[in-house]
Amino acid sequence: MRPVEISDGIFWIGAVDWNRRNFHGYSKSSLGTTYNNFLIMDEKVTLVDTVAEEFWGTLKCNLAQVLGDEQKIDYFVVNHLEPDHAGCLALAIEKYRPEKIFTSPMGEKAMKAHFHYTDWPVEVVPTGTEISLGKRSLQFIETRMLHWPDSMLTYCPENKIAFTNDAFGQNWATSERWADEVDRHTLEALMQDYYANIVLPYSPVVLKTLKALGEMNLDIQTICPDHGLLFRGDDIQWVLDKYVALAEQKPKNKAVIVYDTMWHSTEKMAQAVATGLADEGVSVRLMSMKSNHHSEVMAEVYDAAAVIVGSPTHNNGILPLMADMMTYMKGLRPQNKIGAAIGSFGWSGECVKVLTKWLEDMGMDVLAPVKVKHIPDHDALNQCYEQGKAIAAAIKEKLG
Ligand code: FEO
Repeated sequence: MRPVEISDGIFWIGAVDWNRRNFHGYSKSSLGTTYNNFLIMDEKVTLVDTVAEEFWGTLKCNLAQVLGDEQKIDYFVVNHLEPDHAGCLALAIEKYRPEKIFTSPMGEKAMKAHFHYTDWPVEVVPTGTEISLGKRSLQFIETRMLHWPDSMLTYCPENKIAFTNDAFGQNWATSERWADEVDRHTLEALMQDYYANIVLPYSPVVLKTLKALGEMNLDIQTICPDHGLLFRGDDIQWVLDKYVALAEQKPKNKAVIVYDTMWHSTEKMAQAVATGLADEGVSVRLMSMKSNHHSEVMAEVYDAAAVIVGSPTHNNGILPLMADMMTYMKGLRPQNKIGAAIGSFGWSGECVKVLTKWLEDMGMDVLAPVKVKHIPDHDALNQCYEQGKAIAAAIKEKLG
């Protein structure tokens, strides 16, 4: 895609990764992603972030188009060192030899550890630092843990633009650049997916940061995340409100049953629990780990009031795909959940004990498990159905 002038003298010069399906090596990005970065044409020409290294050719081409006759960049701003944003940093520094490179205090540490440089002209810009580019200025605000300790936001008051890096991002490869040009339902779903899989553990920091930003009374007319669509006009308040709601993690009348199964006994139990929940009016997602990626499950777990986890006993533990799911879920620290375990067994039967421990470790309100020897009969399936109804009652009480 060609550069787009998103505000007077400020250009989107990013890369669209149409074929990206494995985001950061652990999360599924079914619709690709973008690496947004920006060029500010002022007395001091300034590059805000770069793109993933494999798109260096795209970035060079976009830069060449905007820079024109004078192929010179004076300043680099590095909002975040993760390689999807700083992947071309060393190559760009070598090519353009910037006068200064601005990054946060933690950014400097990360930059050294990533690039092992000795002579880069790095200038640390803690929160509150302001620099002049000529007609414009830039203000820097650290946004630690959104999504790494080094993350920061860059604000240009003259153009009323906030370059927010990972915050407000979505994985969506599109030819459009603005959120008001695409389907809103898809945008919301992808923003939730990104939040649930990337930002979720840092929700308390998100709320604190958004509150602090609000108190700064910045006049923001454009929000530019480094992934996906950009926001303008009425979408500014919409996306700020949306992010507060995402961070608050208010559960819906919804349950996710995630399971793996060997000879379909645990699967039959999961289906019976689902029926009990559905009969009580709870919206249910029944997700086999053989058919769903852990990040797809997490996007559904995110706003569910209850999570039911199922596995047969396998080698005194649980099946590997469920071990993966529980590890992934625990790391993302979902809040405000009811939990319950189900599973079949042949002889030792540790499955529900192991699963229940995971749920307790995540701070969920854990209900009694159901365990069935070998193949569930009618009575056992009825027990699962009743468990579904009991979980539905707990959801009702929780949601008030
Ligand atoms: Fe888009 Fe934290 O990298």
